[in-house]
Amino acid sequence: MHGTLRKLHAGKRGTGTTLDRFRLNEVVSQVAFAGRRNRVYREIVALAGVGPGDSVLDVGCSNGYLARRLAVAAGPSGRVAGVDPSAAAIADARRRATAAMTFTVGVAQRLDLPDATFDAVTCTLAMHHVPARQRAAALAEMYRVTRPGGRLLLADFDPGRLPLMRHPGSGRTHRAVATVGPLTELASGAGYRVESSGTLPLLRYVRATRPES
Ligand SMILES: C[S@@+](CC[C@H](N)C(=O)[O-])C[C@H]1O[C@@H](n2cnc3c(N)ncnc32)[C@H](O)[C@@H]1O
Repeated sequence: MHGTLRKLHAGKRGTGTTLDRFRLNEVVSQVAFAGRRNRVYREIVALAGVGPGDSVLDVGCSNGYLARRLAVAAGPSGRVAGVDPSAAAIADARRRATAAMTFTVGVAQRLDLPDATFDAVTCTLAMHHVPARQRAAALAEMYRVTRPGGRLLLADFDPGRLPLMRHPGSGRTHRAVATVGPLTELASGAGYRVESSGTLPLLRYVRATRPES
């Protein structure tokens, strides 16, 4: 696995990649999850507790891989919104979207969305992209747009399963580059009540609820 990832990064650096970054992310995810990506993301949808009629926000949605699965769970009466800073990823997500899905260019730490709107907010593998000093602001924004009683599912790399080899972009290790602090602290620091936490292949997650009052 690590050899393949190294080649992908090397091709990008050496030749000037013809892959958009989000397409590279897609390939890296497929390789990194080693055939388990679909199963892992089905589990994420279940952990987020998304059901028919729910209004759901996916933060750092890239081209909508998870959002499309959330939309299936939310059914025809549900709504799914996705936010990501990559205009290319959002354009691709919009091309694949159903009428119940909307995608917007933006960042987690400044969500251009109304207060108390969503039954569930998901954020997978995006928090390590948010600068460390802005992660609390990103969680505060997710909390603001979650309706009282609504849920958060936050997942990111499990540091214990990240390679210690050098990250080609930064010269630091993958573990140093892609590790977010304890997800439970991020969630509770924003005001969420932590319900549970655990691990999935490659990932750790926290499930939390915005208290009713
Ligand atoms: C590794 S991809 C994960 C995509 C998707 N959530 C998934 O689980 O496959 C990380 C995504 O985070 C996005 N991202 C980077 N900075 C961000 C920020 N400040 N707020 C929200 N998303 C961000 C990137 O554009 C990228 O699409």
